[in-house]
Amino acid sequence: MKATVTAHSDFTISQVDDRVYSAFLEHLGRAIYTGIYEPGHPTADKDGMRGDVVELVRDLNIPYVRYPGGNFVSAYNWEDGIGPQENRPVRLDLAWHTADGNAVGVHEFMAWCDTVGTKAMLAINLGSRGLDEARNFVEYVNGPVGSYWGDLRKKNGHAEPFNVDMWCLGNEMDGPWQVGHKTADEYGRLANETAKTLRAFDKNLQLIVCGSSNSDMKTYPEWERIVLEHTYESVDYISLHMYFANRAKHTQNYLALNHKLDRYISTVEGTINLVKANKRSTRDVAISFDEWNVWYHSNAQDRAILEGNSGWPHAPRLLEDIYNFEDVLQVGCILNTFIRKSNVVKIACIAQLVNVIAPIMTEPGGAAWRQTIYYPYYFASIFGRGVALNLAVKCPGYDADVADNVPYLDIAATHDAEAGTVTFFAVNRHPTEDLIPEIALHGFGDLQVIDHQVMTHANLSAVNSLTAQATVTPSKGQGAKMENGTLSVALKPHSYTMIRLARR
Ligand code: AHR
Repeated sequence: MKATVTAHSDFTISQVDDRVYSAFLEHLGRAIYTGIYEPGHPTADKDGMRGDVVELVRDLNIPYVRYPGGNFVSAYNWEDGIGPQENRPVRLDLAWHTADGNAVGVHEFMAWCDTVGTKAMLAINLGSRGLDEARNFVEYVNGPVGSYWGDLRKKNGHAEPFNVDMWCLGNEMDGPWQVGHKTADEYGRLANETAKTLRAFDKNLQLIVCGSSNSDMKTYPEWERIVLEHTYESVDYISLHMYFANRAKHTQNYLALNHKLDRYISTVEGTINLVKANKRSTRDVAISFDEWNVWYHSNAQDRAILEGNSGWPHAPRLLEDIYNFEDVLQVGCILNTFIRKSNVVKIACIAQLVNVIAPIMTEPGGAAWRQTIYYPYYFASIFGRGVALNLAVKCPGYDADVADNVPYLDIAATHDAEAGTVTFFAVNRHPTEDLIPEIALHGFGDLQVIDHQVMTHANLSAVNSLTAQATVTPSKGQGAKMENGTLSVALKPHSYTMIRLARR
């Protein structure tokens, strides 16, 4: 099947904000305990952080990691995680029906961020708690020595303020499952007062208000409008979440789901603009898509714990989705959507990072390995930086349940003018046919192919595991040709491809 794509160096969408390659770690299942933290593990450092996980995370060059939740944060006392570890309380986590001994708190997390070379994006509890705790937490993390909270932080081993600049004002406050769930008006007022208070401490903080938990919520998109009516002048981002599932075992419908994601982003972009106009504001609010991933493989096995039939286990196996090759294609399409929506999506966090719906898995006392979806995330994070190109794409399509005429080719591209590189990320959604795009490039100079990576597999259900860690991996692609300013390449059926071009 043929397709044509045209790229011009002047035809751009926006600079891709590096922060769209951010991630998320929650006190949930084994994300923290036996995920990033496992004292006694053969690779653990003096703080008990697993060195093998640090290596895999470092390779991803993640700009920010959101922490400590998620649903967990809505009943979390941040004070439980400070001071001598032996004095920290064991608390029941109401979101996931587990117990948490708080061995990891804000100090341990900040140290881990330094080790892996990332920055923290911290979430505040606006479920069971409110403005005063929010203000205390921010002052503890960022306040000067010589003040009550700054001095306490110093006593706990860190005199220097942590200088965390991004703060989430609660989590999924539209969700009835959330501890302290609120109506849009209740939440909007609280979020605005909290934002005003935090800004009185530091006007440069970047504040993220909760949008909808997904676009199927009954309150969407009115939730966004009402919350922004309350908060527009005091926040910088509105947070969206979306998880993807193939429960019906229908690959073609599954692979079209990023069209629903695209609509969700466009609708919220429109809502932001509506509120901006209503307020005659000159200020911009953008989207922080701070939870996204495939999540459904583990649903059945998690039921007993989540329904409270297993007591209050500490760090049980929860949300441990084992990703397959089909999910590689899905994650490739999602990341392409974020690149194409880079004008409004400025932050995005893969949810999550280790063990819990994650690209990295660990075995307690044993190995850490890359799940299948690690690779498209890796390629986008490392090479998908620069300016997003507005590609003209002509390609036959198919009708799916969420959209008509979904093109078989899902493609995005970035241009790094300084390095002289153009990078294409392409998914061939066709189940049986090669897709042969002719990609005409204008205004980039004389380019040559410098890298061509392909992911393809005869079995869409193929997975990586502790005992078979390299069943699904990328390999060098063959046959990409640059001739007379046109790139041609054959994309295998149901495949993911990254091609990098550089000036000769
Ligand atoms: O990432 C898992 C959960 O999904 C998060 O805790 C919550 O915010 C969302 O519902």
